[in-house]
Amino acid sequence: MSSRVQVLVGAQWGDEGKGRVVDVLARDVDVVVRYQGGANAGHTVIADGRTHVFHLLPSGMLYPNRTCVIGSGLVIDPDQFKSELNGLDPQPESINTRLVVSYGAHIVMPYHKKLDALSEGARSQRGGSVIGTTGRGIGPCYVDKYARLGIRAEDLVSPSSLKEKLRANVDDKGKIFEKIYGEPAPDFDELYALAAKWGKMLAPYLGDSTLEIDAAYSAGKNILFEGAQGTMLDVDHGTYPFVTSSSCVAGGAAIGGAIGPGRIDKVIGVSKAYCTRVGSGPFPTEETGSVGDHLRKKGSEFGVTTGRPRRCGWLDLVALNYAVKVSGINSIVLTKLDILSGLDDIKVCVAYKMGGKEYSAFPSSATMIGQAEPVYKTLTPWKEDISGARAFGDLPEKARDYVRFIEEATSVKIGMIGVGPGREDTIITGF
Ligand code: GDP
Ligand code: IMO
Ligand code: MG
Repeated sequence: MSSRVQVLVGAQWGDEGKGRVVDVLARDVDVVVRYQGGANAGHTVIADGRTHVFHLLPSGMLYPNRTCVIGSGLVIDPDQFKSELNGLDPQPESINTRLVVSYGAHIVMPYHKKLDALSEGARSQRGGSVIGTTGRGIGPCYVDKYARLGIRAEDLVSPSSLKEKLRANVDDKGKIFEKIYGEPAPDFDELYALAAKWGKMLAPYLGDSTLEIDAAYSAGKNILFEGAQGTMLDVDHGTYPFVTSSSCVAGGAAIGGAIGPGRIDKVIGVSKAYCTRVGSGPFPTEETGSVGDHLRKKGSEFGVTTGRPRRCGWLDLVALNYAVKVSGINSIVLTKLDILSGLDDIKVCVAYKMGGKEYSAFPSSATMIGQAEPVYKTLTPWKEDISGARAFGDLPEKARDYVRFIEEATSVKIGMIGVGPGREDTIITGF
């Protein structure tokens, strides 16, 4: 592998298979860094017949001797963190891994989860659309971060700072709960005891992630930044307000992962061979009939964090091209090509129709995206099971045509193809 610093992003609405791709790439890297999001992410890795779902831990955790970093751009649910670490315990021989949690990462408190639920409830009562969040307290925790009220990992190990910040938050949330929602205020003593317990648990892992990453870079190590969610869920560049509250695009790695943009060698965009979305919001190529059912069933499209059925539809090249531009993607990984086998026809969206006109570019207005009608090109399907393919030449001709069509439409090479969920179900076409 020639690229020393790589950023991997979701090029759609999340759940593209980022975790399994990181697991494959981690074979050749020294450091894997999560740079944004929190336990709203669910990254599945299937290795040696076992399924692991990572919500907070970087998906490089299964390899020994990798440094795994949770950057300052994350919001951490300490109970989730602990349960993921405990889940790794049965195989200590493969978990001889160094793990660094940034002092600057923010902590998701119980009141954030409660606020997440209350604010979704309020949206619904107002008759508006709910966002369909994961309920993990992500939005409210980022609100506190930017309001400069947040509690950071470093505060959990500093009793005086914790007390001061917690008092301010209990006061603030108490007013919101009682006056806006008619709910009881949070209890300071209870929260302080919980936070202090979390501090003891997290203390061995806390470190200066910025210095750690700089030292790895200076030592010539290979570093992989693992994005969570996806481009269309990015708070600035996604289908706002139906987005998450962090910067999922490649630029987010510079901020939440502490890598100077000039140090990034390569940006990898992960895309399914079709599209899915969990939660509300525009999804131009959504198929609500038999095609959607087929993709959901064959692709096991159910959220790993919430278990919700994912909305499914055809590949959207307008959205994929947008992701390529926003993140500067220069290599695409195409996952789940195996799921398209056996369909009677295959469509890809090549443009949107809006107000009677055709557009090939993704509109920056979320309202317009909501009105976009997909313009499809129909491609010839293939019937063969491709899950055993290990080289590009093993694929049937029509499947190869599908891959080439995407490459031409995006002007980006597809460096890896997924033909199954396991580590070995991968065709490497050029990295
Ligand atoms: P992430 O959030 O982007 O890491 O993706 P998820 O793990 O939430 O969802 C992707 C799902 O597809 C998981 O169940 C993976 O095991 C599965 N998967 C990933 N790549 C492939 C593939 O190429 N073929 C098949 N059949 N399943 C895949
Ligand atoms: P990974 O990393 C898919 C969606 C939620 C909701 C919106 C906001 O596994 O790809 P939030 O809880 O973040 O405030 O919810 O974002 N969402 C995801 N969808 N994959 C994810 O993560 C997601 N994380 C959040 O469904 O629509
Ligand atoms: Mg996921």
